[in-house]
Amino acid sequence: MCGIVGYIGRRQAAPILVEGLHRLEYRGYDSAGLATPEADGFRVIKTEGRVQQLRNLIKEEIPATIGIAHTRWATHGEPSDANAHPHLDASGRIALVHNGIIENADRLRAQLTADGVVFASETDTEALAHLIGRSEAATLEEKVREALSRVEGTYGIVVLDLDNPGQLVVARNGSPIVLGIGESEMFVASDVAALVRHTQQVVYLDDGELAVVRADEFHTSTLAVEASPVVKSPTTVDLVVDDYELGGSADFMSKEIHEQPTALSRALSGRLNERFATAHLGGINMDPRELRAIRRVKFLGCGSSYYAGQMGAQLVEELARIPADAEPASEFRYRNPVVEADTLYVALSQSGETLDTLAAAQELKRKGGQLLGVVNVVGSAIARECGSGIFLHAGPEVSVASTKALTNTATSLAMLALLLGRVRDLSTADGKRIVAGLRRLPDQVAEILAQEQAVAEVAARFADTRSMFFVGRVRGWPVAREGAQKLKEISYVHAEAYQASELKHGPLALIDNTMPTVIIVPDDELLSKNIGTIEEIKARNGAVIAVTNAELPEGLADAELRVPRNETELDPILFTIPLQLFAYHLAAKLGRDIDRPRNLAKSVTVE
Ligand code: F6R
Repeated sequence: MCGIVGYIGRRQAAPILVEGLHRLEYRGYDSAGLATPEADGFRVIKTEGRVQQLRNLIKEEIPATIGIAHTRWATHGEPSDANAHPHLDASGRIALVHNGIIENADRLRAQLTADGVVFASETDTEALAHLIGRSEAATLEEKVREALSRVEGTYGIVVLDLDNPGQLVVARNGSPIVLGIGESEMFVASDVAALVRHTQQVVYLDDGELAVVRADEFHTSTLAVEASPVVKSPTTVDLVVDDYELGGSADFMSKEIHEQPTALSRALSGRLNERFATAHLGGINMDPRELRAIRRVKFLGCGSSYYAGQMGAQLVEELARIPADAEPASEFRYRNPVVEADTLYVALSQSGETLDTLAAAQELKRKGGQLLGVVNVVGSAIARECGSGIFLHAGPEVSVASTKALTNTATSLAMLALLLGRVRDLSTADGKRIVAGLRRLPDQVAEILAQEQAVAEVAARFADTRSMFFVGRVRGWPVAREGAQKLKEISYVHAEAYQASELKHGPLALIDNTMPTVIIVPDDELLSKNIGTIEEIKARNGAVIAVTNAELPEGLADAELRVPRNETELDPILFTIPLQLFAYHLAAKLGRDIDRPRNLAKSVTVE
């Protein structure tokens, strides 16, 4: 949430900053701005709206070879020109961009106002700019360190000081910061997406660290007042700029939906073992005896990652016969959970940055819980906090709505469940069946995607609906939740997920000819129950869209979204795919901005 870019080097900064912001726009898109030094102050250009609007405001070449920039997702203060970053201190000598939330901003603001400071914006960030500007420390590094010692909350910041030219000072606590190392030039960003056009050599700052960045060197240290140096070496990222390009796709969501067969193949590659009918997960440092000692599994994540965790819990119970459940990380971290020594906790996150999931992982580590991470972004905070686990290998996910990451998470959890099952009493025959089923997934996902036009036609038929139910039983329940979530976030059509069996305990009262229901109907032991639910809905004139691999009685459902057959345990992975297409095409029909849904941003680094 919020994207930060900084540049120092030999080239003009402004085009690099704006291009970087463009790459980070998925992190927030309600305002954008940049600051570069000039002879007698900063040139600040900022505006409410998208990065393109900022670009339109830059009418001439800006010669500066150093600068900072920001794309915002509003927390304190509505989206407006004044609240857009960068923010300056009262003297106009300090410029600052910030990602995160300063929790004691009101108190700081009151103190600064009492001291005669006049604020130009409603943001929490501006208080920090004034604190830095008022520090009497000798160097910018010390000014920043001193100011941050008064701040509570989360931040990734980049600071420019006219009186300390030729350097950017960067600090991190809870919001990501990565340095890009070039030749006689350096980059700073909140995500490698903004850097890979220029360099593959990066340094991830950790929480509680500060860096002074000059064109040809950087040095890092701890943020504590008694600072000590931290030696950090660059790592090479294997991402290139094409990974962040649309190619021929209309938007990133469509691109990422269609990347799923390839992304899934990458997730499975080298991890399935036919001979022993199990999964080989090299990132899990536990031997069979340790795996057998696990008595319970708990998945923690937010939003779609949480729903993938629910799919994983069902798989673990079915394949390994150990109790398993999923819980939103945001709830877990605040309820003083009982942490059991023989429970395996698994933190799930595409971005590896979600603050609630990171905080849950930190709480678990503090309490001695056994923790694994299932994460897409290598080097991210959650990946590093967990230390071991499974990488998703989904490739960069830029669309705010998660698609390929969810599919790869559920598939990774199926492999984890298989591994846990095979060190217990899952038979070789069942292990082989699941291995073969997993191997079939990429082609079967491609088969579903080939029916996109048919799904688009169904979505168009229901595009004027104001509200929908999504229902499913057992394996179908997290699928229904994820389907409803996808529809809500990108189309703004109200969608409520319910356990199919619970419908008759209340919500059935809402069913009439204006309220369609999407129902998940796998050809499994619950088929007749699901057919019963469809009949109850039809009896109340409700339209039914069935997502199914079963042969339903002719005319029972008003529309069918077809899914190929696989092993029933793996059904949730396949059943989710048509619902991505359904949400996508319904939103497209309504003319929504699919990659930038209102009020949302990717990577929720605030509470
Ligand atoms: C929905 C969506 C969100 C994320 C959630 C967690 O399409 O993308 O619900 O799943 O914000 O994000 P990660 O997985 O990055 O922790």
